[in-house]
Amino acid sequence: MANVIARPRRVLSGMRPTGKLHLGHYHGVLKNWVRLQSEYECFFFVADWHALTTHYEDPGVIAENVWEMVIDWLACGVNPNLAHLFIQSRVPEHAELHLLLSMVTPLGWLERVPTFKDQQLQLRDRDLATYGFLGYPLLQSADVLIYKATDVPVGEDQVAHLELTREVARRFNHIYGVEPDFAEKAEEAARKMGKKNARLYFDLRRRYQERGEREALEVAHALLEEQANITMADRERLFGYLDGSSREILPEPEVLLTPAAKMPGLDGRKMSKSYSNTIGLREPPEEVERKLRTMPTDPARVRRIDPGNPEKCPVWEFHRIYSDDKTREWVWQGCTTAGIGCLDCKRPIIDAVEAELAPIRAHALEYQEDPERVRTLIAEGCEAARDEARETLAEVRAAMGLDYR
Ligand code: TRP
Ligand code: SF4
Repeated sequence: MANVIARPRRVLSGMRPTGKLHLGHYHGVLKNWVRLQSEYECFFFVADWHALTTHYEDPGVIAENVWEMVIDWLACGVNPNLAHLFIQSRVPEHAELHLLLSMVTPLGWLERVPTFKDQQLQLRDRDLATYGFLGYPLLQSADVLIYKATDVPVGEDQVAHLELTREVARRFNHIYGVEPDFAEKAEEAARKMGKKNARLYFDLRRRYQERGEREALEVAHALLEEQANITMADRERLFGYLDGSSREILPEPEVLLTPAAKMPGLDGRKMSKSYSNTIGLREPPEEVERKLRTMPTDPARVRRIDPGNPEKCPVWEFHRIYSDDKTREWVWQGCTTAGIGCLDCKRPIIDAVEAELAPIRAHALEYQEDPERVRTLIAEGCEAARDEARETLAEVRAAMGLDYR
């Protein structure tokens, strides 16, 4: 069993191109992607269709932001040699899968996704009573399922979308993966792996079914992944037979909850474009410095001689992220005794943010000056993604009876 390698885990994640990226994206998402790209096979994409579901009235934002966003990713260390980077609308298979999944998705499932009502309330200035907006989480499901992603890094706000994705996959497999003689076909498929592997498979299946051993399930998955001599349909039967009675055509992904590294904004609230409290990844140093120098502090410190309370100050939130213990001690001591002024206090932050942004800006510049290179690496990413997407779609079409000629 030692030669059974772990099932290759595949990560998929997307970002909507609705504005310039800022430090919130860097600390909240991109640093995480950079870490994931060396641990998993990663697919990262620009969710341009998703942007249209809320911004259909201003299509200009898309073209404007797509390439800039890709440049920001690259500048932050997302590496096209490690991850497949692509644009959603350049892999039209997502749309076909979305359509096909829509056939089996009960309307109620979409209506009760919390973001549906929440966002409509939050974005009152837009008319979001559209079919496209209702279908947003299902399009997201298609994004994930078309790559058979095993892990999807998302924040808390997206967990409900992943839950929907899992339900849709389960329902799809149940409707299209059930065969009258499923068990016999699965047993027959197992024998095609050879005596030794078949025995191992049945043993692992028993351990999982009788004793609920997760590890046995994982080893069984690995065993199936490495079989080169069985057909796709047999593989799906064997996956499905481990814990159910239907072929697992679309595997259920797991949530990889992104640690809530909440980047504070300039006003102490979460950094977000809608609060206008951001520091852009490519803003010039003078502008970054100006923003930090003018950011609000503890309102009780009206005069330099008034002591303050860091807990009531947005600058302190920045120290939590950027400063070491020694500096934080200096801040705490100096603030509460009025020993330092707020500008003194901000100095290490200004320096730290600048140290973080300088290399990002420089990398971005390299890509800005070579748009051809960016176009090429995205074209390659799109091709790689399409190859995967086409395979899944062929299976889905066949399962739904659409492979007739
Ligand atoms: N809905 C996600 C967001 O707003 C973006 C997204 C679209 C996504 N498709 C995805 C994220 C698939 C993860 C997986 O942030
Ligand atoms: Fe905030 Fe620092 Fe001023 Fe205290 S000294 S109020 S922590 S900026």
